[in-house]
Amino acid sequence: MGYPAVRMRRTRRSPLLRRMVRETRLSTANLVLPLFVCPGEDVEQPVGSMPGVARQSVDRIVATCKAAFDEGVPATILFGIPEHKDAIGSDSWSDDGIVQRAMRALREQVPGMLRIADVCFCEYTDHGHCGVLRPDGSVDNDATVVNLAKQSVSLARAGADVIAPSDMMDGRVGAIRAALDEAGLGDTLLLSYAAKFASGFYGPFREAAGSTPSFGDRRGYQMDPSNRREALREAALDVEEGADLLMVKPAMAYLDVLAAMRERFDLPLAAYHVSGEYAMLKAAAANGWIDYDRVMMESLVAIRRAGADWILTYAAREAAALLAKGWEE
Ligand code: PBG
Repeated sequence: MGYPAVRMRRTRRSPLLRRMVRETRLSTANLVLPLFVCPGEDVEQPVGSMPGVARQSVDRIVATCKAAFDEGVPATILFGIPEHKDAIGSDSWSDDGIVQRAMRALREQVPGMLRIADVCFCEYTDHGHCGVLRPDGSVDNDATVVNLAKQSVSLARAGADVIAPSDMMDGRVGAIRAALDEAGLGDTLLLSYAAKFASGFYGPFREAAGSTPSFGDRRGYQMDPSNRREALREAALDVEEGADLLMVKPAMAYLDVLAAMRERFDLPLAAYHVSGEYAMLKAAAANGWIDYDRVMMESLVAIRRAGADWILTYAAREAAALLAKGWEE
């Protein structure tokens, strides 16, 4: 049966009907707020390409998390800007490292909030690559995995509830799981950046984190944007190695990958609405070209519709505020 007996517009007639047939909902339970933690006290350094985002010292991070948690944002993921960088990124596994200090402060002062630690080396190495370099400039996978496990154990001990490796080394999920279990940290979750693409959308993040590679690019370890089947293979391996959740990154340009993962795997899924996606919305809105609130919320709902349970987004607090005002109606 079709038109005129079927009239699709009938269920769109009123806000009430639209609300009652809505298939996808965004809730504050879906939101994760990424934050950049830097050394010092009372430090707040705005990131030029990401309006509303700043590098913050530990005390400021605590205040931001308190406010965000009160607004309904349940989780944060922390990125560190360390005091010192070296060739292997050893600051990242120092028990007194910048993220470790922030984790301890949050565990103490915002205990209800879920604490996620990004695990990688690009912010901690003087060359900006995500691991230990070989003489030819390529990243040594297996040597890097050993260090990733050290970094993960140190962060989990400091209070990270979730370890989220974003380096794209092979075998890291299994190695991190084994190291955590061996250290008596069996309750720590593993959120794997299973399909992380070598993307231009990370541009503003690299300014924020000071993690632009000093030579070359990340195509030797991050995925080719053209490949969806390969993303599913990556995800399958991470499931086998013990990941608790899988992530796709970036989000908007990779919703087909996310939807394919939703079809194939039963694990909870996350999507990272990355810095470039956020910066584009802010830039267009600043020019008066789009309605920021509307396009931002539409983006997050689209990411949900494609299959994400968690959305890592710099707009988490803005979204929570809109949801509190009854945005859906
Ligand atoms: C690596 C990492 C990056 C992002 C998250 N984790 C940068 C990169 O791979 O270059 C990007 C996030 C964003 O763009 O918002 N530690």
